[in-house]
Amino acid sequence: MEKIKSILKNLSSKYLLLPMMLLTTPLAAQTENSSGISPTTAFYVVVVLLIVVAILVMLLAVNLLSLLKAVVYKDMSPEKKANMEKEPNWLSKTWAKWNALRPMEEEQDLVLEHDYDGIKELDNHLPPWWKALFYLSVVYAVIYLLVFHVFKTSPLQEEEYEIEMAMAMAAKTEKEETIVIDFDENNVPFNDNAEALADGKKFFEAQCGMCHKADGGGLAGPNLTDDYWRHGGSMTDIYKTIKNGVPSTAMIAWESKLNPIRLQNVASYVKSLRGTNPPGALPPDGELYVEESKQ
Ligand code: HEC
Repeated sequence: MEKIKSILKNLSSKYLLLPMMLLTTPLAAQTENSSGISPTTAFYVVVVLLIVVAILVMLLAVNLLSLLKAVVYKDMSPEKKANMEKEPNWLSKTWAKWNALRPMEEEQDLVLEHDYDGIKELDNHLPPWWKALFYLSVVYAVIYLLVFHVFKTSPLQEEEYEIEMAMAMAAKTEKEETIVIDFDENNVPFNDNAEALADGKKFFEAQCGMCHKADGGGLAGPNLTDDYWRHGGSMTDIYKTIKNGVPSTAMIAWESKLNPIRLQNVASYVKSLRGTNPPGALPPDGELYVEESKQ
């Protein structure tokens, strides 16, 4: 009795604590994030939780079985016990069963009649684990066919893509509607906010660097770090060049790709490059721009 008690205690501490922890974590995460997790994430969380619970239940069952065995074993006659000990345990039996291949000693019985230029063939079956995988894949294919093509309960790739695009578009318009432009496009202020400059830098390096070099030193496009500008070097000039581009040059209009806030961030970043003097920069190009005191 004492033994059973200690086993049960051991079991409860091992297997009950874990699911409780797992069940409470998503709840805690959810309360923290009041904006809510997306349905897809929730679905995967539930699936993972179910798998974890299933595994725990299996472990518990195995433990209970061994407990039962221990109880039965206690009342067995010594001969029976000796017999049981001789038998291989279920694990090695199952292992052998799932890997069953006819051994090489039986090769003579397996060899097939035909002979291709001295190459003979053995009629050995595939191991059961392989066949089980094969049957499982057949079952999976049937379920897949029913779900995606017969009942159409889940969207196919293309539909999924369209749904996601629609969601992204909706999110984009929503975001754009909430953008407040608090500056006059004819007098764009330099934004020295570190976050804004970092945002501008990121965009510049990703989108503009290929022509102006990541450090702004110039490549196919002119050097943006000196005091010479083709289209003016004031914040407003730079903003407008980026927004409208330079017609019939490689410098396209970025208006459709950048919202005004980001445009201001990128222009501010370009402005902040002044005097950085990166190595290998292109020579001055255009007219000397002298900073006006009001900017
Ligand atoms: C495909 C190449 C290319 C890309 C990408 C590009 N530019 Fe340009 N950019 C140019 C060229 C070429 C010019 C010169 C146009 C001209 O002949 O006046 C230019 C000119 C400019 C000017 C005016 C320079 C001056 O001297 O007045 C600014 C500012 C500028 N680009 C900023 C940017 C920013 C910011 C980005 C990224 C959002 C960007 N460019 C992306 C090629 C590019």
